Amino acid sequence: MTSLDQRDEIKNRIREAADIVQVIGECVELKKAGTRFSGLCPFHAEKTPSFSVNPQGQFFHCFGCGESGDVFSFMMKYHHLTFPDALKDLARRYNVDLPERKMSDADRARMQKREQLYLVNQSASEIFQKYLLTADDARGARKYLAKRGVPDELVTRYQLGYTPGPEIGGWKFITSRLQAKKISTIAIEQAGLAVKKESGGYYDRFRDRVLFPIFDMSGRAVAFGGRIMGEGKPKYMNSPESMIFDKSRLLFGLYQHRDAIRKSRRAIVVEGNFDLLLLAVHGINNVVAPLGTALTRSHIKSLRGYCDEVVLLFDGDSAGLKAARRSIPFFLAEQVEGKVALLPKGHDPDSLVREKGAAAILDLVERAKPLPEFVFAALVEEHGLTLSGKSQIIQELSVLVQEASDPAQKDLMVAHFSEKLGISPARFVTGGERSFSPESRVEQVTERSFQQLPRKQRQVVDFLILYPEFLQELQDGGLGDVVTEPVVQELIDSLEKLRASGSFLPEQLLSQLSGGSERQYVADLLMRGSVGEDDEETRGRELCDELLSWLKSALGQRNGANLQKRILEAQQAGDSQRVGRLLQEKMKVIRKNRGV
Ligand code: GTP
Ligand code: MN
Repeated sequence: MTSLDQRDEIKNRIREAADIVQVIGECVELKKAGTRFSGLCPFHAEKTPSFSVNPQGQFFHCFGCGESGDVFSFMMKYHHLTFPDALKDLARRYNVDLPERKMSDADRARMQKREQLYLVNQSASEIFQKYLLTADDARGARKYLAKRGVPDELVTRYQLGYTPGPEIGGWKFITSRLQAKKISTIAIEQAGLAVKKESGGYYDRFRDRVLFPIFDMSGRAVAFGGRIMGEGKPKYMNSPESMIFDKSRLLFGLYQHRDAIRKSRRAIVVEGNFDLLLLAVHGINNVVAPLGTALTRSHIKSLRGYCDEVVLLFDGDSAGLKAARRSIPFFLAEQVEGKVALLPKGHDPDSLVREKGAAAILDLVERAKPLPEFVFAALVEEHGLTLSGKSQIIQELSVLVQEASDPAQKDLMVAHFSEKLGISPARFVTGGERSFSPESRVEQVTERSFQQLPRKQRQVVDFLILYPEFLQELQDGGLGDVVTEPVVQELIDSLEKLRASGSFLPEQLLSQLSGGSERQYVADLLMRGSVGEDDEETRGRELCDELLSWLKSALGQRNGANLQKRILEAQQAGDSQRVGRLLQEKMKVIRKNRGV
């Protein structure tokens, strides 16, 4: 048997043994709906359930974000596992024997190494925590935490620890304790807990520090951050990166706070570990802290699985603020709303929450400004609105605009910034691209497949394929004006043809669509799909209403941007009458959008 066959066979055996409803049901509250189960999607934030699990087909699908797959993909995505780890995990739970020899020697060696690193960190974390809680010589550390307002209960929840200094613990406090547990010195060194001396021998990396273990998303300690007590340098020391620790992906607190973040659909980002702890003391639990680095796209990607809004809570002159500017394109690319809340001068979240309580923080967070707006204000402050200031600002903003991945978002940014600057949107041209123009968008975009569409548009596609009977209603709601991608147009044309021939069977699309990847997309969707069940009709109704309200707001934004462009043109032409008329029109649009 080839190893590929073998792998398939094992996969199938596990898939049969594992109960997808049970596996997913442990992470998502599922309700039975016909022959399927449905619940709130764990992969994007939503209020009404779009996530469905099909036990017959052994797959899940979300109509909201398009996420789908089998029990393995669920494990990988939800618990952030590699495929082999997902396989192993399920095999263990459902008592399927994995043949020993299915991995290459190199794979097995890597896996063993990783397992060792987990073991080092986990064992160390237990030793550090026990020491902090019980050792006489940790009295100073306990006092320090108490003085900073961190109660014992938090020590346990975040598994905080302490490691003594050399006068008390020697130079090998943790190294020798791990060695005594038969853990190899090389593993201890690779985990970053021991440092090799040039003269040979080892000493502890962390000495006389309060330790914060960093957990991955399956709750395994993979690294530590250590704060010195009192003055001294460096204030913080982190484990170096390793096979199991990538600090550009992990966030302190995300593991402990994932449910709170999911519930509130919002994550608050603070800079310091103590900021996070003190907010938690005051009952604010939807908080994470990057490990002393700027926010990366991977951070935002990790957060995206739990929330749709991220609020950066920074003080006015922190380095975090500069980083915030660079993170705009990441937010846009991941389609997560980024906001900024500035702390009063001289405060960090830690000091503010202790002085003024949780309400003060929540108030700031509620009033957070959208990131692009915030950055714009900061640029104006920096460069001023003189002619040269403006062109400086345009230059800096153009970089951001170019990095936005979705053309609709690009247009929105351009419309937004040019309005603020009182300039023509055309001035945002960079890199030889054609000027901004909502009308010419269709030509500018290279054709995309269904798979590459922005999230919301793909939701429209899925919906139309599975519920073609709602086509007319969406068209009346402005579908054609909002979604202009050629590939969606073709789908709509095909559906119209089918409708004209008196049929609405989605399967017939397979002979209508011209692109191979589009036909495959429809086929996959129908295989997974869920047509023809009792509650389908109400489900279709709900989804349709959701899409209609999205169309409405997208149209509103589109009209606003268009109008803005015409206002600017009129201004430049010096036609004040036309400007006045257009401004009145704009007010009407704004009022209409507000539902007044
Ligand atoms: P306190 O001063 O105890 O309130 O610490 P803090 O947690 O509020 O940290 P601070 O605001 O000074 O810094 C923010 C974060 O940056 C920290 O939580 C660390 O992750 C990181 N950091 C700060 N100082 C250092 C340092 O000297 N070295 C490293 N590697 N990281 C640091
Ligand atoms: Mn602080």
